[in-house]
Parts: sequence; structure tokens; C-alpha cells
Amino acid sequence: MTPLNPDWLKLKAEPFGQYIPDEILQYRSDEIQRILDWKAENPIALPAEIEIGSNRGCFLLGLARGRRDTSFLGIELKESLCRISANKLAREGLSNGHVIHADARLALPVLFEPGTVDAIYVLFPDPWWKKRHARRRLLDDAFFEMAHTFLKPGGHFVLKTDVLDYFDAVEEFLKASPCFEFVDIQDVPGQDTWTLSTRERHCLEDALPYRQLAIRNLASSSAALPKTTLTEKKLLKHNYRYHPDEN
Ligand SMILES: C[S@@+](CC[C@H](N)C(=O)[O-])C[C@H]1O[C@@H](n2cnc3c(N)ncnc32)[C@H](O)[C@@H]1O
Repeated sequence: MTPLNPDWLKLKAEPFGQYIPDEILQYRSDEIQRILDWKAENPIALPAEIEIGSNRGCFLLGLARGRRDTSFLGIELKESLCRISANKLAREGLSNGHVIHADARLALPVLFEPGTVDAIYVLFPDPWWKKRHARRRLLDDAFFEMAHTFLKPGGHFVLKTDVLDYFDAVEEFLKASPCFEFVDIQDVPGQDTWTLSTRERHCLEDALPYRQLAIRNLASSSAALPKTTLTEKKLLKHNYRYHPDEN
């Protein structure tokens, strides 16, 4: 683990410091600094939409092609995949498309002001089946607190997944939330320009069932998000036959 940064209070004093827990500011300060360096070289014009886990950039590329007046940022944990996406964007001259190698849970608060993001897409998030890995799952109450803070009021969050238990747990959590309202996915702005992600294509080719939802962010709510059972739910491997690490 990265050694504790004695200068972490400088990070705490930054605007994003209030949105990132202290122990993460202390132990992951090198990652945060890398995101700050990236931000200095890559200003993102608003309006902006984000794809978390952009992988090889299939969906991101479609977004950037479809609406040239909007910035699209792919946030991806694996550096090699970021290079692939960045090369595709550059080859097509899509200057409204960007990709950063980072953990979205750090990048979102460091790169954006609260209430400024138009949409967040999470397509086929890693399920992290093993109990000891459950804390690595992206979609938990802390994630939705962050999404509520950084999305505009009226901004959208879109989820697609073929891990049906994961979907059910997220849907149940969001139905109890005072911070979002469900909308028809067809009504999400730009929906007509979406293309298939890599995993969605696999699902369609192999006739694997998957589910999707869209929610709209409500204006700042003083009511707390429910504390979740999201990461405690038992996930079943049944129809999930793909994992990026296996490719
Ligand atoms: C199962 S793949 C799905 C990829 C793609 N969205 C698709 O639909 O084909 C999940 C992707 O999310 C990335 N990822 C997981 N956690 C992340 C995080 N916290 N921040 C950014 N990317 C993440 C993984 O590296 C992987 O590329």
C-alpha cells in the first residue's frame, strides 16, 4: 500500500477533499495527484457525460461520434484499455472524447464540480463474486451518494448488467432512495445515438439475458440515502460467463 502522505491535509483542503474519505486521501494521494496532473492537461468542457469502466471504448466512441457538442469522459481502471480507447478517439479526430486511467471513485470528485455532470453510464460493472472482494463492487451507497452530488439536478444515471442479482439489489436500493426517480431508458437524452458496449454485444450474440435501468437525479435532497444491503446481497454466477481478466 502507498505510504501515508504527510501532506494529505493539502488534499483535504482542496474542494474535492470533502467528498473523499480521509483514509483514501492519505493512502491514495499518488493516484489523486495523477488525476490532478491529467486534469491540468485535459480540461473537460461542459456539458459532460461520463462512462465508468469504458474498457476498449466501444460505447464511449459511439457517444462521442453521436453528439459532438458534448464532452464524453471514459474512466477506466486498466491502463492498456485506456490506450486502446484513446487511440480510437484520436484516429477519428473525436476531440470531444477523453479517457483517463483512474478509479472513478477518485476521478469524479477530483475532475468535476458538484452538480455539473449530465449523465453517468455504468455498463456491465465487474460483479466481484467472492465475498472477500465484495468491497470492490462499484455500486454501493457511497457510489450513489457521489452520483447524487456530482450529477446535475435532472442528470441521468444508466445501468446495464447481466448479473441479475446485482441488478435487483441496485434497483431495490434506488427505489428506496429519495434522491432519484426512475425514468424510461428511451427518454434519456442522446439514447438514439447509443451503440453496443463489448459486453452488451456478447450478451446479444450468446442470447444472455440482461437488464437495464435509468434514473434521474433530483434536486439536492436533505434526506439521507438508505444504508444499503447492496454489497451484502448474495450474487449467483448463473449466466455470467465473461470477465475481462479472462480475455
Ligand atoms: C465487465 S467490464 C465491462 C466493460 C464495458 N463497460 C462493457 O460493457 O463491455 C467492467 C470494466 O469496468 C472497469 N472498472 C471497474 N471498476 C472501475 C472503477 N472503479 N473505475 C473505473 N473503471 C472501473 C474494469 O476495468 C472493466 O474494464
